[in-house]
Amino acid sequence: MKPIKKIGIITGGGDCSGLNAVISAVTKTAIRKYGVEVVGYLRGYFGLYHNNFVNLDMDKVSGIMHEGGTILRASNKDNLFNYRLEHEDGSVTYEDVSDIAIENMKKEGVDALIVIGGDGTLTSARDFQRKGIPVVGVPKTIDNDLPSTDVTFGYNSALTSIVDSLDKIHTTAFSHDRVMIIEVMGRHTGWLALEGGFAGSADVILIPEIPYDLNKVVEKVKQRDAEGKYFTIIVVSEGAKEKGGDVHVRQIVEDSADTMRLGGVGKQLANKLEKLIPNHEVRNTNLAYTQRGGITSQFDRLLAQRFGTMAIDLLMQGGAGKMVRYIGRDVTHVDLEEVVGSGEVGETSKGGAKYVDKNGQIVESAKAIGICFGD
Ligand code: F6P
Repeated sequence: MKPIKKIGIITGGGDCSGLNAVISAVTKTAIRKYGVEVVGYLRGYFGLYHNNFVNLDMDKVSGIMHEGGTILRASNKDNLFNYRLEHEDGSVTYEDVSDIAIENMKKEGVDALIVIGGDGTLTSARDFQRKGIPVVGVPKTIDNDLPSTDVTFGYNSALTSIVDSLDKIHTTAFSHDRVMIIEVMGRHTGWLALEGGFAGSADVILIPEIPYDLNKVVEKVKQRDAEGKYFTIIVVSEGAKEKGGDVHVRQIVEDSADTMRLGGVGKQLANKLEKLIPNHEVRNTNLAYTQRGGITSQFDRLLAQRFGTMAIDLLMQGGAGKMVRYIGRDVTHVDLEEVVGSGEVGETSKGGAKYVDKNGQIVESAKAIGICFGD
């Protein structure tokens, strides 16, 4: 195999806290340990296609480790193997432009890629590896829905942010005897709602894995009233649905790997609840993108940097074609071929997400202290 002298980093998909920590760890290790050059492609695969990159050196990555977001920006749309091209006559075609990306890499002397992303981004990473480009994948998501790793960075920071918001909402909920609904992200899985709600002292947690009965939620509010607790905190996952109902789709993004965007269930729930418990005001707060931003948590700083150093070690030591992951308390790796396309990196369309076990220990423990799941 050709020796690797220069590598490119790509951040694709939705952003989350910890991306900058990976970029920083990869760059520092590449330069210090291996003496290789590093470039960062801007806006994910879009930058690879347009040969739009920045040189990354010690100065560029200094002081970014703890910051949320990505200094390279991200895009969740640009699949170069099925790329949307707009022509002068107004027509649109979808074409495989991956060879142009590879030409760009050759022109700049970029020998290998470290690709940080979710299912869509890592599927393309595998496809570039199949075309002979050495690639190592780094998984990320705030949703904790990737089965092939115990956890990704981004999740713990999002939880921290949710708990912080719940602490704030508690005091105002108490002051006004209100029923407060807090909608959180998570796509089709309820991890953020479950663990964020449990740690943030929610009274009701509604998750996709346990379709809810509105009457049970009303009962819980009334029970709290009877106990002299005149406020109720309800954490609802964006993918939660009523028994016999469906998810609340906010938007369809046609040229994205996962087209469906969820959101709005909290507002819908507030409208319904207000009619059923007229003695309470009901307010809805959608935490939305606050969960993806801000300062990276201590756990995510460590995990992201460990992922970064493992990724560059793999690339430089003949281990291309792998994805790093976290199992137990160890950072290990797995073949991209094994996890991508099998549902293992969370393609919900393939039913491959890591779901909350509705009879599992965490739900059981939350129920034991009186948290209602609407079932
Ligand atoms: O997968 C991460 C995530 O933040 C989900 O929790 C959420 O449903 C989705 O991305 C939002 O996507 P977008 O940034 O395209 O609105």
